[in-house]
Amino acid sequence: MGISSEAFLQVLSAPATRLYHKDFCYGNSNVFVPDRDRRGRGCRFTQSRKVNFKNFTGIFASIRPDGMNHKKKKINNLEGLTCKCGRAEGVSEAAAEELRKTLIGGMNNSDVSCFESAQHLKSENGGVFSTSDLGTPGTIHSNLNGVKDSFEDEAWDLLRASMVYYCGNPIGTIAANDPNDSSILNYDQVFIRDFIPSGLAFLLKGEFDIVRNFILHTLQLQSWEKTMDCHSPGQGLMPASFKVRTVPLDGDDSATEDVLDPDFGEAAIGRVAPVDSGLWWIILLRAYGKCSGDRSVQERVDVQTGIKMILKLCLADGFDMFPTLLVTDGSCMIDRRMGIHGHPLEIQALFYSALLSAREMLAPEDGSTDLITALNNRLVALPFHIREYYWTDMKKLNEIYRYKTEEYSYDAVNKFNIYPDQIPPWLVEWMPNKGGYLIGNLQPAHMDFRFFSLGNLWSIISSLATTEQSHAILDLIEAKWAELVADMPLKICYPALDGEEWRIVTGSDPKNTPWSYHNGGSWPTLLWQLTVACIKMNRPGIAENAVKIAERRLSRDKWPEYYDTRRGRLIGKQARLFQTWSIAGYLVAKLLLAKPEAANILVNLEDTELVNAFSCMLSSNPRRKRSRMGVKKSYII
Ligand code: GLC
Repeated sequence: MGISSEAFLQVLSAPATRLYHKDFCYGNSNVFVPDRDRRGRGCRFTQSRKVNFKNFTGIFASIRPDGMNHKKKKINNLEGLTCKCGRAEGVSEAAAEELRKTLIGGMNNSDVSCFESAQHLKSENGGVFSTSDLGTPGTIHSNLNGVKDSFEDEAWDLLRASMVYYCGNPIGTIAANDPNDSSILNYDQVFIRDFIPSGLAFLLKGEFDIVRNFILHTLQLQSWEKTMDCHSPGQGLMPASFKVRTVPLDGDDSATEDVLDPDFGEAAIGRVAPVDSGLWWIILLRAYGKCSGDRSVQERVDVQTGIKMILKLCLADGFDMFPTLLVTDGSCMIDRRMGIHGHPLEIQALFYSALLSAREMLAPEDGSTDLITALNNRLVALPFHIREYYWTDMKKLNEIYRYKTEEYSYDAVNKFNIYPDQIPPWLVEWMPNKGGYLIGNLQPAHMDFRFFSLGNLWSIISSLATTEQSHAILDLIEAKWAELVADMPLKICYPALDGEEWRIVTGSDPKNTPWSYHNGGSWPTLLWQLTVACIKMNRPGIAENAVKIAERRLSRDKWPEYYDTRRGRLIGKQARLFQTWSIAGYLVAKLLLAKPEAANILVNLEDTELVNAFSCMLSSNPRRKRSRMGVKKSYII
């Protein structure tokens, strides 16, 4: 059965055959490149340079795209505070129009409709990013006005009010914008993961500049010098968040400059590693290209290098036995100790989506054959591992219940030596007859049976789960509506850790008490992921019902970060109000429900080449005895 290894090799050895202009960067001469790693790679103008300033290093915007240094500008008025460096893309109106025509010429039908309707929306908005509308650097640009027609209008005003500017250009949105909050912590920063729904809302509205700027500026931060107690994390890491600071110009007290100041986890509570940032960055880059029709960003030399650096970091060899990504606790949306170290589902689903997206965008290049091979190998092995070992439903539960243990052999059924007593009592009652889900984590002798929403939803969106499994996950969400959605969509995970388990697993974390925050809290931002998953499976009604429930309270409660209690009835104990991704998540859900075909910019469809490779690899029997001959077999793709 399946295809021969030769055919296999042939099919998958074809690299990503995408249009690629090696010299694009030259033609498009205003390119951001950090001085350190990418100097000399062919981009003519650098707009940034890295310098030490007092106690921190930052990227200073001080050189104009035309090469003129404007550092010594005096502050005469408010305008003087705004540095005058150019935009990430300094094209003239005429050139932009030319570009638009070229893009439409080169797009397929669905792209055209996305691009054109976006342009239409943009003109309806009166072009939000006209130069007259630029804000003061590093500050929030407030646009709140009068009575609101609807929740959506209010949400748009709030989203715009959360925009952050760098050198006069929109570059991201801050995490929360609550004027009455006295303990801001780092919620005044632009978080990479938090910006994803903001970026998507802007894309769907036809406002592409902010997303483009975000992609290019965060790329600059990637090769940042980052250290924690004399240790430098791997190259390719993207920061968890960054802040725009306006600082006095070196040697000139009367002038200022904007500085991007990233946090790679060195300052974050618990020093958690932002593993998801780079994965989200790739996913957003693809969505930007698909929605705007502008593939020039992903084709840029520096962007291609950025993608490869993330991949190299993720695909590096280690001691691990599994194709899943091994990470420390708190390396994703749940960025505190919650017992999700190891191989958490959320990271695996984002990883798979990022691999597929990167494969689509990577240009064929002699030097990257090994990387493409590693990427393709992982794309074959990862879905098999997750579909086979993470899946649980009534049938699988019964299988685990009857597992034999201590099987030493190549063909063990209970490969991870799971003791049946590990099945938590709640699950036996909770598992619906129809439906199932992917468990939260898998390690030797350990299955984390908690249901994690983001991981399951993104497994649907990325096709990491099979079609059958994807429907079953939505069946489970419907069957367990009273627990997972209840009074506010959506529970981050179910159930909460309680008592001794809470004490041991969270380290007695007072923020993660049962049914609060990451420990079974309800997060409105998850609405957008629920919506994409439901649209992909052609079941938008589920998301529509969830949105209706959220609308009852979100605006009235001032758009909280999360809700507490079993049914999500109370605004979270320490929840921020006017939390940007709650606002943006709601907007993306509404925009997508109104235009479901736009969800394509996020969805990864199952790749038949990979499926064939997969069946070939398994020869239809995942539990077949491993032959000695097969030990060395590698799948060169
Ligand atoms: C909290 C969340 C994290 C989010 C951050 C900013 O730390 O756990 O996922 O990125 O707040 O909103």
